[in-house]
Amino acid sequence: MSEVAPEQTIWEVLRGALATRALGIVAGLRIPQALAAGPRPVGDLARETGADADTLHRLLRALASEGIFAEEERGVFHNTPASELLLTSGWDDFAVLFGGVWYDTVGRLDASGKAAFPAVFGSDFWAWLAEHPEERARFDRAMAQGSDTRIERLEAVDWRDGETVVDVGGGNGSLLAELRKAHPGLRGIVFDLPETTRDESLFGDGLEFVAGSFFERVPEGDVYLLGTILHDWDDASATKILRTIRVSAPEHARLVVLDAVVPPGNEPFGPKWLDLLMLAMFAGRERDEEQWRTLLAAGGFEPVRFDERLIEARCRS
Ligand SMILES: C[S@@+](CC[C@H](N)C(=O)[O-])C[C@H]1O[C@@H](n2cnc3c(N)ncnc32)[C@H](O)[C@@H]1O
Repeated sequence: MSEVAPEQTIWEVLRGALATRALGIVAGLRIPQALAAGPRPVGDLARETGADADTLHRLLRALASEGIFAEEERGVFHNTPASELLLTSGWDDFAVLFGGVWYDTVGRLDASGKAAFPAVFGSDFWAWLAEHPEERARFDRAMAQGSDTRIERLEAVDWRDGETVVDVGGGNGSLLAELRKAHPGLRGIVFDLPETTRDESLFGDGLEFVAGSFFERVPEGDVYLLGTILHDWDDASATKILRTIRVSAPEHARLVVLDAVVPPGNEPFGPKWLDLLMLAMFAGRERDEEQWRTLLAAGGFEPVRFDERLIEARCRS
């Protein structure tokens, strides 16, 4: 393994905020889309997007040094496989969120253990999204990104025909709709706040949307799916969510949690960084196996399986 110089390691981290912001700006200007048909001079791109040409050139040059876009002759850029990823719905939304609302929030992260979002935006993230429908739609599209990978993970679960799966905090319902394509014998309930942006054509014929709060009541089902929900909340709130589910869950019900189980050690693992985003946004957290065991027990469940990104549990009697 080649050694990285300490200066290089520190530099990569120091400039991280600039890369996040630069990507957010160009994604917001839809530069990947503007380059979809082939190379273009930065002057054209600037005119079309209303950006300052010199600034746009500098943003694209910096990103091109990381393989996101390429400058083929002075001031003329084309897409690369990395920038083409931003042509797909979800990745471009993530780029704008990371480089915008989340960037502003992370800029206020400190060592107090408190969420920074309310201090910057004046309310919690969910209430703010309810007031900003465009951002809500962006967030829902971003969350739906990567559903293929999540469906693959869910294949480890024993799905049984006739069972009702409640996707608690199921967002726009795309994950449950995909799961039912693979397992058409399942019935599905997507449970979330009323303001999620949904494709209503997904619903009907065995899949319904129920609006509500998982701090109050959830529908009855055989399987409760929690896809990246519990990492949004601190232990006290996450325990409340689990207890709400436990009240509605029949004894035989199973809990399927799509969240990371942070491994010990120093290896790179994306959720070690997402953990800090959860902290800044919600005072939430990613958890290791011991923390999951404690949380599940407090919520009335016991684990039966831990994978790196999936946990299964049953009701404690
Ligand atoms: C990180 S997203 C996960 C969405 C989806 N499960 C997925 O994996 O893509 C968290 C979801 O929790 C929902 N949520 C937040 N507070 C809620 C509440 N009190 N009751 C029900 N859903 C809530 C949000 O609207 C959002 O859709």
